Amino acid sequence: MKSLIKILGIIMVLISFASCKKNSAPNYQFFPQMYESVGYEAYGSYEVFPNEQAALIPAAGSIPRGYVPFEIENSTEGYELAKTTLKNPLSEEQVDLELAKELYVIYCGICHGNKGDGQGNLVKREKILGIPSYADAGRAINEGSTYHTIYYGKNAMGSYANQLNETERWQVVAYVMKLKADLEK
Ligand code: HEC
Repeated sequence: MKSLIKILGIIMVLISFASCKKNSAPNYQFFPQMYESVGYEAYGSYEVFPNEQAALIPAAGSIPRGYVPFEIENSTEGYELAKTTLKNPLSEEQVDLELAKELYVIYCGICHGNKGDGQGNLVKREKILGIPSYADAGRAINEGSTYHTIYYGKNAMGSYANQLNETERWQVVAYVMKLKADLEK
């Protein structure tokens, strides 16, 4: 009698398993959220992403990897501050005049001329006016003022902060100082 109950029990268990597995319909899923995640729309508005219609803004004060912030501001006072306090952090050994010349010819020579005398091709072809020579005594440019000018631009001259990284800007500054010295000879 006992063994009959055991056999019946096993049969019932087998039937209950078999009834769960149907090939004609999807099977029962445990923890369905593990298989089917919520499809968040980019820029959608959700409780977990409160910024509706906007990419998340980086936390205040965060900077991209490898980016070096420039603390001096884009103003006449900032220009004067750079002129009086800012020095080229590259040592003489770190300055690579070959590389600096290459960058200078690519980005600056078209207006300022490859000698820095203000006679670039755009000036010769009368496409742009008012390009100063680096030796212009009235301007008396120096390392700091040149870095500020490259970083922010000045009047008709645009900023080159996006084309040149920090080291490259200082390389170009060193090259501009060399051109200035050559012009003053
Ligand atoms: C599109 C033409 C153009 C290009 C390219 C250009 N500049 Fe200039 N630059 C100017 C003009 C115009 C001025 C005069 C701005 C003013 O004082 O009104 C100027 C002024 C300057 C000055 C003098 C600023 C001062 O303190 O009075 C320096 C230094 C200088 N540029 C460096 C550079 C360097 C370095 C590059 C390349 C990274 C460059 N420029 C590229 C047009 C250009």
